[in-house]
Amino acid sequence: MRALPVNRRTSLTLTAGAVLLLAAVLGGCAKPAAAPAAAATPPAITYEAHVSADGRPAPGATLHNPHEGDRAVAANGAQLFTAMNCDGCHGPDASGFVGPNLGDGRWRYGGADSEVFMSIYYGRPKGMPAFGGAIGEDGVWTLVTYLRSLKAPDNLPTQTFGKP
Ligand code: HEC
Repeated sequence: MRALPVNRRTSLTLTAGAVLLLAAVLGGCAKPAAAPAAAATPPAITYEAHVSADGRPAPGATLHNPHEGDRAVAANGAQLFTAMNCDGCHGPDASGFVGPNLGDGRWRYGGADSEVFMSIYYGRPKGMPAFGGAIGEDGVWTLVTYLRSLKAPDNLPTQTFGKP
């Protein structure tokens, strides 16, 4: 008979523990939702333009465009290009203004999907702002899909405008 109260106390303790656990779980659910994807940082990446010592690339993921070749996404990207005022610097249809032409097939930082992604997500030093925080990974991929869908004109100047 002496063992019974002990068991009861034990089970009471267990029950209390379960209630606390439940409260913690429920409390967890009540917390605000996890930070939006826009705040997530993509992993370190490698891409073909990286020069690697001894031919061995540093460890890093390879970025893959989830919308590659998708025309509907490219059309959305064209709208986003205007909405985010990319055209304010890069000109209408990305044809170049104070920022470089993005549709002529010539790239300073590389034209592979992952390279264009990095240009837009993190910005570039000579005046290109970082947009990753504002539009998130999917927004950046949408723009990449648009820019990669642009066809370079047949007749490309071979020189930049400069002093005569
Ligand atoms: C404030 C002006 C400005 C805005 C706004 C801007 N850019 Fe740029 N962008 C630049 C400049 C200037 C460069 C060249 C940077 C360099 O050479 O370091 C550049 C470079 C780039 C590059 C790299 C080009 C290459 O040759 O490798 C990409 C891609 C790009 N911008 C895309 C975009 C997109 C997409 C947007 C809108 C989300 C945007 N830019 C908004 C000024 C701007």
